[in-house]
Amino acid sequence: MRRVAVLASGGGSNLQAIFDHLDALGADAPATVSLVASDQPQAFALERARRRGVPAAHVPRGAGADVLTGLLETHGAELVVLAGYLRLVPAEVVRRWAGRILNIHPALLPSFGGAGMYGRRVHEAVLAAGTRVSGATVHFVDEQFDRGAIVAQWPVPVRTDDTADTLAHRVLQVEHCIYPWCVAAVARGAVRLGDDGRVHGALPYEFARFGVEGPRHPFVPDL
Ligand code: GAR
Repeated sequence: MRRVAVLASGGGSNLQAIFDHLDALGADAPATVSLVASDQPQAFALERARRRGVPAAHVPRGAGADVLTGLLETHGAELVVLAGYLRLVPAEVVRRWAGRILNIHPALLPSFGGAGMYGRRVHEAVLAAGTRVSGATVHFVDEQFDRGAIVAQWPVPVRTDDTADTLAHRVLQVEHCIYPWCVAAVARGAVRLGDDGRVHGALPYEFARFGVEGPRHPFVPDL
């Protein structure tokens, strides 16, 4: 059972999806959330953790890398999962947990990523560009924002009448479908980051074809 630390800055709906997925796996769950930490003391993600009896910690904005490192070590974090975490993870932490940090981004990287591209701003940029497809991307974290090796992506159509809020809502539904599966696959070792900087292994076959045992894409009919 891998110990997972989740870092979140906001509501924590992705954290909730991870909790729910691990609960549903029951005895087959490859991971357990041992810590939730946030740079925002009022983040609802922290409250979600407290309600389950999971340690919840506030890491103040100005805190040095050693504070986060110490917290992750204290809670035995083997995998670090960014779920709406809006701060750059210190290089020291990235190096220490190399290949063991995941992030989810609410667009199809490498487009619409990078510093300052988070939350609503991402969807505003997608709409301003006039692209017809957006989506969600899960990737390993390196020292740059949104640049690490990609684990999984799912598309979401952009409607002509979309606002940043309606698009964000639909992308978030897809995030909840894919992220818990990616976290579980990496925790199991089924998917890993190789020394060559590339992703090796595979998500379950059912994942790719939206089959009955995999997550069901809310906007793509079963194949
Ligand atoms: C999610 O849409 C996530 O992809 C995004 O923040 C939201 C958090 O929602 N992350 C980024 O924009 C990171 N660049 P949540 O707190 O309900 O999980």
